[in-house]
Amino acid sequence: MVDLDETRKADLIAAAREAMTHAYAPYSHFHVGAALLFADGTIVTGSNFENASYGLSLCAETSAATCASHGGHRAGLIAVAIVGGTEGVPAGVVGPCGRCRQILNELAALGGTDPLILSTGADETVEMRLSALLPLAFGPANLENGPLSGG
Ligand code: THU
Repeated sequence: MVDLDETRKADLIAAAREAMTHAYAPYSHFHVGAALLFADGTIVTGSNFENASYGLSLCAETSAATCASHGGHRAGLIAVAIVGGTEGVPAGVVGPCGRCRQILNELAALGGTDPLILSTGADETVEMRLSALLPLAFGPANLENGPLSGG
């Protein structure tokens, strides 16, 4: 389990805050940014991308995970910072929604890590491991023909 120093945490949160400014959230007006930190130091960010068919909206964590995979970052996810707020002004702590926990679990499983999730608000960050946010997670290891099966 990787421990992060306070400077790297602050940098990751700053990256999530910056990502939040790119949110497309004309329906909820709730802007979210996410920043994923990989073991090689790479940070990949994402923001929410809403849809006129509301239920099809994509969360910031999901868009960041997709960008990471697309960029070849599929192993070594060690931390995730999430920041959000109405019209981009952080207030309460924002943690990953249930679907995003599952999406992050897929990415983390590919490198066998248990990332630290930094759920951030205006004056507070709650730190929890993904395994604590998603206990008994169903993941690629459950499937005989999945990406970890070696087949
Ligand atoms: N949202 C995220 O981007 N991440 C989360 O984990 C929670 C919710 C977005 C989805 C939607 O665009 C807006 O926040 C309001 O739900």
